[in-house]
Amino acid sequence: MSTSILDAYKVKQEKADLYDGKKLKVGIIGTGWISEAHLHSYEKCPDVELVAAADLIEGKAKAFCEKYGHPEIRCYRSHKEMLDAEELDAVSVCTYNATHAECSIYALEKGVNVLLEKPMCVTLEEAIAICRAEKKSGKVLSIGFQPRFDENMKMVKNIVQSGELGEVYYIQTGGGRRHGIPTPFGTSFIEKETAGLGALGDIGCYSLDMVLNAVGYPKPLTVTGYTSDFFGHRPDYLEKPEYAEKFGVDDFAAAFVRLEGGIILDFRIAWAMHMDTPGDSLIFGKEAGLRIPSTDCWNGSIGGPLKVYHNVAGICVDTTIPEARNKGDNFDKKIRSFIDAIEYGLPSPVPSGQIIYNQAILDGIARSARLGREVAIEIPEI
Ligand SMILES: NC(=O)c1ccc[n+]([C@@H]2O[C@H](COP(=O)([O-])OP(=O)(O)OC[C@H]3O[C@@H](n4cnc5c(N)ncnc54)[C@H](O)[C@@H]3O)[C@@H](O)[C@H]2O)c1
Repeated sequence: MSTSILDAYKVKQEKADLYDGKKLKVGIIGTGWISEAHLHSYEKCPDVELVAAADLIEGKAKAFCEKYGHPEIRCYRSHKEMLDAEELDAVSVCTYNATHAECSIYALEKGVNVLLEKPMCVTLEEAIAICRAEKKSGKVLSIGFQPRFDENMKMVKNIVQSGELGEVYYIQTGGGRRHGIPTPFGTSFIEKETAGLGALGDIGCYSLDMVLNAVGYPKPLTVTGYTSDFFGHRPDYLEKPEYAEKFGVDDFAAAFVRLEGGIILDFRIAWAMHMDTPGDSLIFGKEAGLRIPSTDCWNGSIGGPLKVYHNVAGICVDTTIPEARNKGDNFDKKIRSFIDAIEYGLPSPVPSGQIIYNQAILDGIARSARLGREVAIEIPEI
């Protein structure tokens, strides 16, 4: 058994008296693609009762609940309607990016704990407002980065945190797809009004989280960003040709970011490109370097064994780290850790205090790309 599981078990034992044994009443806001995964993971929690669901589209929440065998769940036409009518302990915010902020803030103001899907939101301004609402509420806010629970992703962090690399000074990260603009159930990922950000927000946030979490989430200081949309308007790159007219976000982004502590972050992400991969993720330290082979890290996977490059008695040595085996499902762990945090008064599993820096970088890239110059990142006291 790993130390972290033992630690979590011990904390739960010590704090057992904080949990009153009542089932938590949970609601789902937004019943599109990802809400199914939330529903199934909540179903596996015996201490959770799914009582409400909401979607802006008439009949969508009801059809969703019936499809998955929950006709008893009460359905509403918006997050407001649901939160005004119900006494909930927690919600999953599974809406498209553009409504993440309003749904989360409204829930927190009602004293409801929030599991918010990634990316945190669209702009830094929204992220600041979410963090302020969280602080005022004293409730748990966790952001939905399930790769955090993957054993290999944890290994990336453990290697950096062990000090093996020495002081980190340069990071390269990113990833992407050669031909993969997502329109799984319509155009909510590619329209400006619903997605806000394209590849940058959708998968860029994962690549950033993988490396920033490993190095301890240093504060971003400045960003020079670039975005483009050379593929999203081409009918041959979309599931349905008519989607091309609706495309309003980036399908590629790149950036050069200065982080506190003198660390340079070199980043690129693509939904479409004439290339197999924009590269491996690399973390350079003064004592050793770490290679994370090019990976769809949003699936919590690594593209092959991690490799550490170092010197032994003056000889260049490469150490291959055996891949860790995962037990259980990362999505289930994301939901379980959120529920545990509520019941046992534990810290948020994926805290906003870290992810606000992730959002600040996304926002900085989009802003810098618009202005065509480097921008400074300023985050006020929350
Ligand atoms: N963690 C993951 O692996 C993962 C995977 C896919 C998507 N996501 C994230 O989940 C979010 C949703 O993605 P999706 O693919 O399910 O989108 P989707 O477009 O399929 O579903 C979103 C739903 O939210 C509803 N909605 C929007 N605002 C609402 C409001 N105020 N009240 C009630 N309903 C509202 C929409 O009507 C829509 O039905 C996105 O932010 C996406 O980035 C995460």
